[in-house]
Amino acid sequence: MTPSFSPETLALLRKDLASNTRKLFIDGAFASSASGETLEVINPATGNVFAHAAAGDRYDIDLAVRAARRAFDGGVWPGMPPAQRARLLTRLADLIETHCERIALTETLDNGMPFSMARFAAAVGASEQLRYNAGWATKITGETVTPSTPGEWHAFSSREPIGVVGAIVPWNFPFVMAVAKIAPALAMGCTVVLKPAEQTPLSAIILGELIAEAGFPAGVVNIVTGFGDTAGAALVDHPMVDKITFTGSTDVGKKIVRAATGTLKRVTLELGGKSPVVIFPDAHLDRAIPAAAMGIFGNAGQVCAAGSRLFVHDCIFEQVVEGLTQRAIELKVGSGLAADTEMGPLVSNEQLERVLGYIETGLIEGACAKVGGQRSSGANLEQGYFVQPTILTGTTGGMKVCKEEIFGPVLCVMKFEDDDLDRIAALANSTDYGLSSNIWTRDISTALRLAKRIKAGTVRINGGAGVDPAIPLGGFKQSGWGRENGRAGIEAFTELKSVTVAL
Ligand code: NAI
Ligand code: MG
Repeated sequence: MTPSFSPETLALLRKDLASNTRKLFIDGAFASSASGETLEVINPATGNVFAHAAAGDRYDIDLAVRAARRAFDGGVWPGMPPAQRARLLTRLADLIETHCERIALTETLDNGMPFSMARFAAAVGASEQLRYNAGWATKITGETVTPSTPGEWHAFSSREPIGVVGAIVPWNFPFVMAVAKIAPALAMGCTVVLKPAEQTPLSAIILGELIAEAGFPAGVVNIVTGFGDTAGAALVDHPMVDKITFTGSTDVGKKIVRAATGTLKRVTLELGGKSPVVIFPDAHLDRAIPAAAMGIFGNAGQVCAAGSRLFVHDCIFEQVVEGLTQRAIELKVGSGLAADTEMGPLVSNEQLERVLGYIETGLIEGACAKVGGQRSSGANLEQGYFVQPTILTGTTGGMKVCKEEIFGPVLCVMKFEDDDLDRIAALANSTDYGLSSNIWTRDISTALRLAKRIKAGTVRINGGAGVDPAIPLGGFKQSGWGRENGRAGIEAFTELKSVTVAL
């Protein structure tokens, strides 16, 4: 059943957003940016400005970092008993569930995604991130070690929180990504300055309200909305920040690495992808085809792990392409507020132009739009940033559309003719990225042999578990550094210390 919302809640929310500029959340209080600057928030389904948020800059970032520093160095957060920290994280999870309708409506207005998706991301995705990571607060341990050095020793390792974390998130899943960034950091005793994306600042501000309501001490989480090259860059440059955790473009990821060399602050990067989907002749096509469609059309393709390159065995190629084409034609494109919408708009005019530009380049390079290929037309779509679900055939590995991340509902389809797994893996790996991958076959040996050969942080065989807080997520090659989620995601917010005692 599709979850619905109350029209009264939406009307009240719209009214409130139109009349109250959203503020920064620093040291437990809401405040305007020091400069008084604001940024316009656009509804991508209509192209209209519907809200304003404070545009923080270097000065506001400095205030936020100092607040986070005090909450860390003074011990109020890292010194709190882990069980008590865990309790606050679970309380925040409960509050998110209680307020998920308002969060999801805000997300849909701001990002464009279907309400049902936004609600699931908040009520399940975000709250489970908090619950999972809350569990780790009381479970992270070091080891005892027996040195071989002559003498009698007591030696052990311990994990200590890294310190102040700067978390920079993108606009494709604004709320759940913000929560996924802060949850493990907080569980380990770190304090945080969160910088949401300028396109989608609103749901993070609700997160600030709920953090205050849950009773987190002042300064533990600070939220500074603003632009990337001002607020974002200032956070990366700040000498009092110990670690940056970032999700976004590979270009900005590289900039962050360069900027971090001054202080050698720790950096975790979750960057772009160009993930392959490989379908073998024996696959359950009734499952593989809808999954491949949602893997590229879900959230309008604005997903880091989107399956954007499809490799299909020659003998089922026509059948798979027909099935996908049918799905693309049927897909209900529209406002995320409409109950039957399956795919919303792209987040911004900039992304719209970018995606249309890629499609055009693909066609010039010789690809053929089997379906889609244009901006959506029709009632209520013209003002928004809607693109038709698009399938490009006749694509080859060397084309720009097959090499670069498009971040839109555009699938490049290619065929393979043999059963040589080395050759298939070479096709799948022929990209600078290595975030995710998908294999469809009923032959477990084929699946696992290909899984071994694929250079990607995630391999999904016959369907994926989605993003699960227990399953590590991250990239090989230019898809990033480090891992989020699971034990690796928790340890990324700690420093390992060895203590040796000569007895
Ligand atoms: P972006 O990488 O510029 O933005 C992501 C975040 O980084 C935002 O919060 C932004 O304000 C911040 N940022 C930008 N410049 C910064 C800087 N110099 N220092 C610190 N923070 C900075 O991504 P953008 O421009 O919005 O999208 C461009 C492309 O990036 C997309 O088309 C897509 O290919 C890719 N992308 C990938 C994402 C993923 O989930 N891996 C998410 C968003 C974008
Ligand atoms: Mg950018």
